[in-house]
Amino acid sequence: QVLEARNIDAVAKYIQEKNVRHIVVMVGAGISTSAGIPDFRSPGTGIYDNLAHLDLPDAEDVFDIGFFRNNPRPFYALARELYPGKFRPTVAHCFIKLLHDKGRLLKHFTQNIDCLERQAGLPGEMIIEAHGSFASQHCIDCKAQFPDELIKKAVQTGEVPRCLECKGFVKPDIVFFGEALPEEFFLNRHLPEDADLCIVMGTSLSVQPFASLPGFCKDGVPRVLINMERVGGMGSRPDDVLLLGDCDAGVRKFAKALGWLEELEALWEK
Ligand code: OAD
Repeated sequence: QVLEARNIDAVAKYIQEKNVRHIVVMVGAGISTSAGIPDFRSPGTGIYDNLAHLDLPDAEDVFDIGFFRNNPRPFYALARELYPGKFRPTVAHCFIKLLHDKGRLLKHFTQNIDCLERQAGLPGEMIIEAHGSFASQHCIDCKAQFPDELIKKAVQTGEVPRCLECKGFVKPDIVFFGEALPEEFFLNRHLPEDADLCIVMGTSLSVQPFASLPGFCKDGVPRVLINMERVGGMGSRPDDVLLLGDCDAGVRKFAKALGWLEELEALWEK
């Protein structure tokens, strides 16, 4: 065992004494719920429990490419609620930015499509958007790009945008079930092997291949889970530390142990 104890103070001590500089962070929708964006699978509040009005055979169909081809309407009914622009980064997002400012972040892997990491000031080259983002959009038939202004307008009105070239349906470049992840994910997925610490936050680790990332960390590399519930085998290794509960509270505890709490609050209040 590398850590003196399986708690966050021991992780903070490890970071400082070993001068840890290659932290990989892996996140999901749970880091954005306090910003007002629902996650997917939390019972009652998650998106998949609240799609009854869309009359889908299966809730995950809303993000299924085969389903979208036949009927893109349910996705666009939901897109209005999820579209970036009206949300503010959370304390958890600011903690990731702080890790970067301190020169300790190797890479940030996100499943989120809300772009809040960028909004928190984390540079684009530090972020692997494993499930794409709303930053661009293409026709699903001829693959032509589609203008930003026009998709924004379509999302606001709930209309399905049509390709200007071939009239095919236009889809934001977020990864649907049945689609490949972006190339940058595959180019960087080995990075957890080089990490000296891994932090997993706000994800149920239930969607592959993202869910397998923490498993690529070498034995003896501490892994911290900050999440409402225990997920994906986290806690199974001797140097795993679990901070179960709200992730904003968890990162505040982590920052306090590192002596960074004031800086974290200052970043968040900016
Ligand atoms: P999920 O909804 O599956 O999981 C969110 C996790 O965060 C759960 O374990 C919650 O308990 C936890 N959580 C929620 N709020 C929290 C909070 N304030 N503090 C701490 N933990 C909290 O979301 P993801 O794991 O991101 O993919 O889902 C993965 C993928 O499934 C998504 O990217 C999306 C979805 O289908 C696609 O659409 C392709």
